[in-house]
Amino acid sequence: METKILRNISYGVYLVSSNDNDIDAGCVINTLTQITSEGPLVSISLNKENYTSEIIKKSRKFIVAIINEKINPNIISTFGFTSSKDTDKFKDYNYEVVDNIKVINEGTCGYLVCEVENIVDAKTHDIIIARVIDTKKYNDEVEMTYRYYHEVIKGRAPKKAPTYEEVEESKTTGKYKYVCDLCGYIIETDEELPADFVCPLCGADRTHFTKVD
Ligand SMILES: Cc1cc2nc3c(=O)[nH]c(=O)nc-3n(C[C@H](O)[C@H](O)[C@H](O)COP(=O)(O)O)c2cc1C
Repeated sequence: METKILRNISYGVYLVSSNDNDIDAGCVINTLTQITSEGPLVSISLNKENYTSEIIKKSRKFIVAIINEKINPNIISTFGFTSSKDTDKFKDYNYEVVDNIKVINEGTCGYLVCEVENIVDAKTHDIIIARVIDTKKYNDEVEMTYRYYHEVIKGRAPKKAPTYEEVEESKTTGKYKYVCDLCGYIIETDEELPADFVCPLCGADRTHFTKVD
């Protein structure tokens, strides 16, 4: 089956976060959909191995912040390529706390507070259906689309995203080898990495690359 056409399905880019017993979790998703206006009901698709999924299943509550085009790409790298199990993803960014849940309020248009109604098993992922019980709009910035994320930010989707596609690893060889500390991408080059270098896999900036032997 040809899967190229799946690339033409359009999405937005979001930050979903939750808290259970003082444990924070959050990750990037592109799978928010409004299902009904009455309720209103929305759904998100979460990989079962994501820590955010574990926390949401316990707390039955989450907040989705709508990412805008002005977001610092490092926020997407942190929330989309590292796990809340190992890192405090919120510590370097501005957030507010709403009903005990941390919500990133820089580079986002606003948020939806959601209560879980139903969870549908979809093999590797869970489809979480939830009722929106509160909202807040921060500004009129343009919401980020998945196409913008790929074409302008040059970002990729990691293995656990439902829309993951294989990417070609760097085929270059050279005297210097650098590794991206966010997604593990390795690049070899004969030159030092320039200051404006951006990770082709996760979009992290040059500061996230460390020279290795
Ligand atoms: C652009 C983008 C879209 C993503 N979409 C989803 C998604 O819809 N569902 C999902 O489970 N993971 C998605 N991910 C992957 C998670 O954000 C990633 O696995 C994250 O590290 C999970 O963190 P956690 O363990 O703290 O929950 C996406 C990542 C990116 C960068």
